[in-house]
Amino acid sequence: MSVFSHDHEQVVFCHDRPTGLRAIVAIYSTALGPALGGTRFYPYASEEEALVDVLNLSRSMAYKNALAGLDHGGGKAVIWGDPARDKSEPLLRAYGRFVQSLGGRYVTACDVGTYVQDMDVVARECDFVTGRSPENGGAGDSSILTAWGVFQGMRACAEHRWGSATLRDRRVGIAGVGKVGRHLLEHLLEDGASVVVTDVSAPARAAVRVTHPQVDQVDDVDALVRSDLDVYAPCALGGALSDEVVRLLRASVVCGAANNQLAHPGVEKLLEDRGILYAPDYVVNSGGVIQVADEIRGYVPERARAKATRIFDTTRQIFALAAEEGVPPAVAADRIAERRMAEVGRLRGILLP
Ligand SMILES: NC(=O)c1ccc[n+]([C@@H]2O[C@H](COP(=O)([O-])OP(=O)(O)OC[C@H]3O[C@@H](n4cnc5c(N)ncnc54)[C@H](O)[C@@H]3O)[C@@H](O)[C@H]2O)c1
Repeated sequence: MSVFSHDHEQVVFCHDRPTGLRAIVAIYSTALGPALGGTRFYPYASEEEALVDVLNLSRSMAYKNALAGLDHGGGKAVIWGDPARDKSEPLLRAYGRFVQSLGGRYVTACDVGTYVQDMDVVARECDFVTGRSPENGGAGDSSILTAWGVFQGMRACAEHRWGSATLRDRRVGIAGVGKVGRHLLEHLLEDGASVVVTDVSAPARAAVRVTHPQVDQVDDVDALVRSDLDVYAPCALGGALSDEVVRLLRASVVCGAANNQLAHPGVEKLLEDRGILYAPDYVVNSGGVIQVADEIRGYVPERARAKATRIFDTTRQIFALAAEEGVPPAVAADRIAERRMAEVGRLRGILLP
C-alpha cells in the first residue's frame, strides 16, 4: 500500500523501543488551520491496518472540522498496541514528545482507547494537546456536547421529514447507551419522544433500567432495526449501516453519534433509494470536536454549546443542497466541506506582511 496514492500532506511514524511506542500521525490537510483529531490506541492486527485506519480517520477529521466551522484542518494519530497492557506514563510521554516535534501542525485529543487522563500525561511533554481534564485546565468529557449536537441534527431531520423540529411522539431507537447514547436519551425524553434502546453491555443496559425504567429495551441491534421506529440512532461502533440493515430498517430517519456509520461507499445511495433520510455522521457528531477545539482557546462552555447548537442549521443546509443538486445528503455534506476548505484555505494566499 502506498501512502502517496492518498492526498495526505504528511504521515509520520514514531518509534520508541524502550517504551514500546509505535505510533503513526497522519495530517490530511492544514488548509483551515492546525490539523486536529484524536489519538486512537488500538491493538491492530498489522502495521498496514493501523496505517489504513489513520489515513481514513484523518481525512474524515478534515471534513468534520470544516463542516463544524472550525479553523482546523484534519489529522489523527494511532498508537499500535493494547491499551490495557501497553499504556504507560513513559509511553504516553514519549508520544507527547513526538507530537511536540510537529510544532503545532497537529493537535491531539482523545479517541477510542485514550481518555482525558491520558491527555493530561501527554500534555506534560507537549503543548499541542486538548481534551484534558478540568483539573488540568481542560474541558473534560466531550460526550455531553456530542449528544447535544446529535439531538440538534435529529431535530433538523424531524423538520425535514415531518415538518416540525421536534421528536415529540416519535419512536427513537438508540443502539449503544454508552457515554453519548445515555445523554442523547435524556434529550429525547425531555423532548417528548418514546425511546427504545439496546446495548451489548449488560451493565450499560442495567444503568438505563435504573435511571429510566420507562424506556423500552430490546435484546440486540437486529431486534432494534426490525422494530417499529421513526428514527434509528446508531451510537455504538462504526459500520452500523450495512446493506442488510438498510434493507431491514423500518425507521425513515437515521441520525446517530457513531463514527463511519456507512459500512461501505454506496450505502448512502441505498438509503436514498429506500426513502430513508440519513444525517451524515460526521456532521451531527461534531459536538465533541467543537468542545476540544474550544478548549484550545480557553474553554468557554456557553460558546462551545452555541456552536454545537448550530449543527441544526448545518444539517438543514445539507438537506437543502442535497435536494437542490439531486444527491444524497452524505454527498452534499462532502461538497460543502470541500468548498469551505478550498475557499477559506485559499485566503492563506493573500500575503500578510
Ligand atoms: N464521545 C464522544 O464525544 C464522541 C464524539 C464523536 C463520535 N463519537 C462516536 O459515538 C459512538 C459512541 O461513543 P461513546 O463515547 O458513547 O462510546 P462508549 O464506549 O461510551 O459507548 C458505546 C456503547 O456501545 C455499546 N456497544 C458496542 N458494540 C455494540 C453492539 N454491537 N450493539 C449494541 N451496543 C454496542 C457499548 O457497550 C457501549 O455501551 C462511537 O462510535 C464514537 O466513536 C463519540
